[in-house]
Amino acid sequence: MKPSSLLIFLSILMITIDITKSQSLINSTCKTFSKNDPNINYNFCTTSLQSAPASQCATLQGLGTISIRLVRYNITDTRCHIKQLLKNKKWDPYIRQCLNDCFELYSDAIPSIKQAMKYYNSKRFDDANIQISSIMDASTTCEDGFKERKGVVSPLSKRNKDVFQLSAVALSVLRVIQTRRS
Ligand SMILES: *[C@@H]1O[C@H](CO)[C@@H](O)[C@H](O)[C@H]1NC(C)=O
Ligand SMILES: *[C@@H]1O[C@H](CO)[C@@H](O)[C@H](O)[C@H]1NC(C)=O
Repeated sequence: MKPSSLLIFLSILMITIDITKSQSLINSTCKTFSKNDPNINYNFCTTSLQSAPASQCATLQGLGTISIRLVRYNITDTRCHIKQLLKNKKWDPYIRQCLNDCFELYSDAIPSIKQAMKYYNSKRFDDANIQISSIMDASTTCEDGFKERKGVVSPLSKRNKDVFQLSAVALSVLRVIQTRRS
């Protein structure tokens, strides 16, 4: 083998090892999470984290950033989606009221997740935890609104569930980082 092709071979090998290592970080982390938290599904966890750019190379610290960012994208998109839904004039008044409440909840969630990211970056994990927990509560409160009247089907079930579970993943990452520090 020529030295140059050896070099290429070695680089490819290193990259492969690197990818395997962080993919197994995602896998092993998600395995622990799903075992310890009934709210987290293993496949949901790995699929979500792997979908993020650069997650293959991320350290645990990086996975924290990624998971908080995923929550942020999800709630931003959900808020926008609710806004679109509210443009439809034909909603039953009860459902419209629920949608309005959800819109407010998700509007408040956006500054919360931004704050959570700031806290995370400055290693104030307890404060970040409080913000993310409030977002989990918001997704539950939104969903429960629809459930209060019989026969009403929430048009936001999947989104609320995604936000809830993504937040649970973010909280689990925080917890692991915190235990490692102490
Ligand atoms: C991680 O899990 C996925 C499926 O969940 C699997 O395809 C992949 O091979 C696993 N990677 C490692 C390094 O264990
Ligand atoms: C929200 O998160 C879920 C789970 O990762 C994903 O399937 C969905 O596409 C996300 N939605 C947006 C708008 O990012």
